[in-house]
Amino acid sequence: MLRNTTRSYGSVARILHWLTALLILTEIPLGLLANRWITDIDRKVQLFSLHKTLGVAIFAVALLRILWALGQPRPASLHPERRFETLLAETVHWVLYVALVMVPLTGWVQHAATEGFSQILWPLSQGLPFIPKSESLATVMGLAHQTFAWMLVGSLVLHIAGAVKHAVIDRDETLSRMVRGEPAGPGHHGHRTAPAAAAFVIYAAGAGIAFAMVPPTEAPAQRLEAVASDWHVTEGTLGFTVRQMGTEVQGSFADWTASIAFDEATGTGNVNVTIAMPSVTLGTVSEQAKGADFFDVANHATATFKADIEPQGDAFIAKGTLNLRGAEAPVAMPFTLTIENGTATMQGSVTLDRRDYAIGQSYGDEATVGFPVEVQANLTAKR
Ligand code: HEM
Ligand code: HEM
Repeated sequence: MLRNTTRSYGSVARILHWLTALLILTEIPLGLLANRWITDIDRKVQLFSLHKTLGVAIFAVALLRILWALGQPRPASLHPERRFETLLAETVHWVLYVALVMVPLTGWVQHAATEGFSQILWPLSQGLPFIPKSESLATVMGLAHQTFAWMLVGSLVLHIAGAVKHAVIDRDETLSRMVRGEPAGPGHHGHRTAPAAAAFVIYAAGAGIAFAMVPPTEAPAQRLEAVASDWHVTEGTLGFTVRQMGTEVQGSFADWTASIAFDEATGTGNVNVTIAMPSVTLGTVSEQAKGADFFDVANHATATFKADIEPQGDAFIAKGTLNLRGAEAPVAMPFTLTIENGTATMQGSVTLDRRDYAIGQSYGDEATVGFPVEVQANLTAKR
């Protein structure tokens, strides 16, 4: 029998139930391993890729399962006279059904909203239509995903405990009905909205908890002090691009200062840049980037670039020394410059080799993190 009756689960419902059970019980430890238990970046990235790929597959199975269930009668509880127990079991079923949609969906939106390191292992797009790249959206969705995942864990504990109780204490057919499809039970139950309403309230509370956990937009801990300069930087970005697991990932520094002297007549001058290393952001691995393996911001809070400016063809070049993570290496960055009405606009980029600064030394090849790092600087300054 493929279809359910009011006394039995059909084979489609049973196969989908146990397939989901297997997938979910694999997926939860994968999520915890990736997110909490494993710290090695290489493995973390791989586990997250597995988690996301399996998660999307679960989403597909879940939608199939729910569509199927919508067209089926639901077998009635074996003991409808035990009102509280029946209400609890049905509420848990609703929570589980909703979790099968909300948990993967929030995970997927989190993934689509962020510049990810861990990709979904498929040739299709990593993004989602209508989902912008947004740190704040990713934060909320990440927290909602965690909260809903823990609600799923909680309801599964109750669900499995219930199944065991029916098998061991009540010794009734509840479990065998789901395992072997044997018909059992009174075959009729009233249509009730209380369990669905209870599940709705539980999810609303979960969403509330997730929102309440969003950290307040943090004021930068301690900004670098302004520096005296002939040219005063009014706006600018200092970014960099690195290949991570074969994908380009964009990072940036929020806090840096530049002291610039420049003589328009000769096209020469000098520049002195200080970068607050804790202000780095790098996709989903900003914390790892600050760690001892990479920028080691605890020991090297600032980086400096001191250079002389000279003309080069139609443009300019800043030649000097970059002091980064306690290591020094010469750097020559070509840049373009236009000055109009006392406002200078400059754009430059240079490719560094992370090995020159002992960054990511435990990543000796390029499989996880590429060697070249392209630095991009854009700024406007007023005299
Ligand atoms: C070892 C793990 C599991 C066991 C032993 C188990 C056992 C059962 C049993 C015995 C039933 C039938 C209940 C009844 O007839 O009233 C059932 C129903 C159900 N289970 Fe599970 N389950 C497990 C895992 C899961 C997982 C991981 C999910 C989903 C996240 C899930 C979702 C459901 C749902 C939604 C129903 C209600 C089906 C319906 O009536 O439409 N179960 N389960
Ligand atoms: C039913 C499917 C899924 C389950 C049961 C699940 C479960 C989990 C669990 C238990 C965690 C760890 C939570 C914690 O550390 O507190 C987690 C984290 C995470 N999962 Fe999933 N997940 C699922 C699907 C997905 C999908 C489809 C994606 C993305 C495409 C995804 C992306 C993530 C991400 C990015 C995190 C880290 C969240 C953060 O800290 O911001 N998950 N998941």
